[in-house]
Amino acid sequence: TDRYAVIGNPISQTKSPLIHAAFARQCGQDMSYAAISAPIGGFSQAVADFCREGGKGLNVTIPFKVDAVMIADHLTERAQLAQAVNTLRFDESGVLGDNTDGIGLVHDIQVRLGISLRHKRILLIGAGGVARGVLLPLLEEGPARLLVVNRTPDKAEALIARFADRGHLAAGGFADIADQQFDVLINATSASFGGECLPLPADCFAPDSLAYDMAYGRGNTPFMTQALASGAGFVTDGLGMLVAQAAESFFLWRGVRPDVLPVIEMLIAAQR
Ligand code: ATR
Repeated sequence: TDRYAVIGNPISQTKSPLIHAAFARQCGQDMSYAAISAPIGGFSQAVADFCREGGKGLNVTIPFKVDAVMIADHLTERAQLAQAVNTLRFDESGVLGDNTDGIGLVHDIQVRLGISLRHKRILLIGAGGVARGVLLPLLEEGPARLLVVNRTPDKAEALIARFADRGHLAAGGFADIADQQFDVLINATSASFGGECLPLPADCFAPDSLAYDMAYGRGNTPFMTQALASGAGFVTDGLGMLVAQAAESFFLWRGVRPDVLPVIEMLIAAQR
């Protein structure tokens, strides 16, 4: 039985063991998947212990995604540009660090929701670690343009600087949204967790817009409520992304791509 785990602090809220156990059953993989709480400052020790005991891979979550960059011997390009790692794989060639958050988001939008990002006008809200992790995979889909806005505009400017040669990109504050409409609006801020609304003009949503909140939980987030009230035609939380990023990690480890839909349905049923 190959051993995997998710490592973070706190970790009790994680759905990853449930998701990966479901993937393993579905794909007939002989593996276990646990949750590890590492003390702050004790991340590299906890990883070394897990690896020494024969662990094959880890998912890394808050607050260790940046520490995990330092631990890896090799980084995928998307992890390098995100400067954050959510997946580690241990094998003969050492420790590989990857970041599957962005591809998880892109898959959820394009495959599950069936909405292409090509030639679309995208608004990415937020400039923290979550936004940084998804920027390159979004750009790789070839949107018409991508505007990154943040409460602190300087952080949005700094974020896009590293991606400048990758597509039609701009950055600013919420005021820069005025009189613009977007096909896809993505909330990558932590505002939903505090129950807070974002200062978005109602006319930035169109009837065929997709409003995607990367946060998830019971019921609609404030961003989803706002998007619905402003007439956005498609509104979703980030549960699908959670499962899709897990599927990409699973693929990196096992070489098999699980079907995400039954697992999303299982999680929704468990929330009821
Ligand atoms: P994460 O790694 O989750 O992205 P972070 O680096 O702390 O966490 O970033 C949080 C993001 O949410 C930032 O873009 C933050 O805006 P600032 O850079 O201006 O702080 C944004 N954010 C948090 N609360 C917000 C709120 N109430 N309104 C708007 N933006 C908010």
